[in-house]
Amino acid sequence: MSNRTLYLFASAAPPLFDVARVIEDAQADGWDVCLGLTPTAARWLAESLDGLAVLTGNPVRWEYGLPGQPDLWPPADAILVAPATFNTVNAWALGLTGTFVVGVAAEGIGKGIPTVAVPCVNAAYVRHPQFDRSIETLRGAGVTVLYGEGGFVPNQPNQPGQGDPAVYPWRVALDAVGHPGAHV
Ligand SMILES: Cc1cc2nc3c(=O)[nH]c(=O)nc-3n(C[C@H](O)[C@H](O)[C@H](O)COP(=O)(O)O)c2cc1C
Repeated sequence: MSNRTLYLFASAAPPLFDVARVIEDAQADGWDVCLGLTPTAARWLAESLDGLAVLTGNPVRWEYGLPGQPDLWPPADAILVAPATFNTVNAWALGLTGTFVVGVAAEGIGKGIPTVAVPCVNAAYVRHPQFDRSIETLRGAGVTVLYGEGGFVPNQPNQPGQGDPAVYPWRVALDAVGHPGAHV
C-alpha cells in the first residue's frame, strides 16, 4: 500500500452513497485513504461504517477525539472534501469548525495541505448570497474548488436530493488530487 495519505471528507449529499467505489478508485490511484464524515453523513452510512473501516484499513471518523487521545490517522498528504454540502462549504469558509471534518479541513488550509473540494448543491442553494463568497474565500485560501464548468454544476431541481448522483464528478476530483502511485 502507498504511504501517501488522502483524507476523504464527505458530507450528507447523495453522492456519499458512492463512497466505497470512490475509496477503491483512490486506492487504485495509489492512495492510503482515511475516511472522515460529518455526523449527518455518518448517520446516512450507519450500516456501512464497519465495512468502510475495513476497506480503508483506517478508522472512519466523524467526531473530534478527546483531549490526550493520540491521532488515529497518519498525517495527510492531500485532502478531498466531497461531496461538500452547502452547509459544509459555508462552515469551512467561515471557519465554523463544529464538525470534525470542517475542523481538519480548516487546519489543512493553515498547514498548506493540498486540498480539493467538490460542492454538491442545487440551484436554489447557490442563489444564497453566502455561497459565492464561500467559494471565493476557499479559492483565495488555496483550495482547488471544482465548481462550475469542468467540475460540479449545480443540480437544476430546487430541492435538496433531487440531483443525479451518477453525474457527480468523482473521477475529476480524484484526478485533481493526483495519482501518487504513478510516482513510486
Ligand atoms: C435526501 C437528502 C438529500 C440532500 N441533498 C443535499 C445536497 O445535495 N446538497 C446539500 O447541500 N444538502 C443536501 N441535503 C441537506 C443536508 O443533508 C443537510 O443540510 C445537512 O445538515 C448537511 O450537513 P453536513 O454538511 O454536516 O453533512 C440533503 C438532505 C437529504 C435528506
